[in-house]
Amino acid sequence: MPVKVAAGRPAKLSTRASRTSEPPIGTLMAQALTIPGVVSLAAGFVDQESLPAAEVLSAAQVVLSDPARGKAALQYSSTMGDLGLRRDWMRRLEREDGITPATHNFSEEHVIITNGSQQLLKLVSEALLDPGDIVIVEAPTYFVYLGIIESLGARAVSVDCDAQGLVPDSLRAALQTLRRSGDLSRLKLVYCMSYFTNPMGVNLSGERREELYSILEELDESGETVYLLEDAAYRPLRYDGPDLPSIKTRDTGNEFVIYTQTFSKAFSPGFKLGFGLLPDALVAPVRRLKGNADFGTSNFTMQLAEELLRSGAVDRHAAELREMYRRKRDLFRQAIHEEFPEGVVTVDPAGGLYVWAQLPGAIDTGPEGPLFAAALEEKVLYVPGRFCFAPDRDAGPPARSSMRLSFGLPAPDAMVEGVARLGRAVRRVL
Ligand SMILES: Cc1ncc(COP(=O)(O)O)c(C=O)c1O
Repeated sequence: MPVKVAAGRPAKLSTRASRTSEPPIGTLMAQALTIPGVVSLAAGFVDQESLPAAEVLSAAQVVLSDPARGKAALQYSSTMGDLGLRRDWMRRLEREDGITPATHNFSEEHVIITNGSQQLLKLVSEALLDPGDIVIVEAPTYFVYLGIIESLGARAVSVDCDAQGLVPDSLRAALQTLRRSGDLSRLKLVYCMSYFTNPMGVNLSGERREELYSILEELDESGETVYLLEDAAYRPLRYDGPDLPSIKTRDTGNEFVIYTQTFSKAFSPGFKLGFGLLPDALVAPVRRLKGNADFGTSNFTMQLAEELLRSGAVDRHAAELREMYRRKRDLFRQAIHEEFPEGVVTVDPAGGLYVWAQLPGAIDTGPEGPLFAAALEEKVLYVPGRFCFAPDRDAGPPARSSMRLSFGLPAPDAMVEGVARLGRAVRRVL
């Protein structure tokens, strides 16, 4: 039995703590997951069965059975992260994108290892944003990043996102509006997921990558330096089509694009390791902020990651995951096709873990709406779409009539059953 704790005295909270709200989805899901037998198509977790415990055990054995290496792994590392691991990631940048210190004007000093890419997103945002500053985000976007913007007192300005990713014309229109209202100088960042977005599952097209970078150059020429925070979290989980070069490849002066990847999606979120390549002007500020936050990511975790990268275990595992998730994605797609009534529009993902669904008419998918209640009765969970929209776009459709579904966590049978249950719930409210 949990112990009942009496409410304590109220604290005199800081402005930042006071304006940081509880993540709405966390609370919602915690309540819903207490329902016995519920299938969650909501959680952004990875497939449980595929997590590489045996590989991690071997890596730990290798690291710890060498006395000198083992003891070094149990010591602190540096604020920017273990140099060996940073060099490993630099080799990956070269392999994936041909990005090298010689071609892109950086050194290992510009590379940082963080507690998940989430920490990188937070540190970069903290380094750049004062209350009232502006960040451009996709509509819909990664909802946890919206929490960072809110907490810093900054303002999110949304731009459209379609099946090809962020729409450059919509970005140009947003810039024009900011210019006219005199707010352009407060724009500091554009946050963009360039591969298989969370929540839409769309991959930014090659032309749009080019155009997005050109817009940054144009802004710079007009005297406004705006950074692009390029989040490539889902890049390794690609099931169809070629691997497109990152937007970072265009940034040969290492001036405008902060590029980040993570160990979480294609290896293990339990490692909570993120990687970032920073433009020169951001290295010292981000290092100072990370120094205050934790003066370095867990060294033991970094040493294990280094061993796993060098032994080839990470690449082998990613290849297996692509096969496994491709099958899950196909099964999910087929179940949606069979179980969802006509009129529900879904985006077919070529990678990542999510399917975005748009319901017809004005059906409210929110937690107080009829669909969420019907889904709970059917014992299935989804993420209400509106949580993925910044406050400037979270009213009306599409925010109110969309939902994010994930094929990451549930086992195939449960996943198909979850889609059938959700299909019944949708039919009931239609
Ligand atoms: C788009 C995106 N970026 C970043 C993250 C952060 O992941 P992590 O901190 O585990 O690297 C997530 C996690 O779900 C994500 O979906």
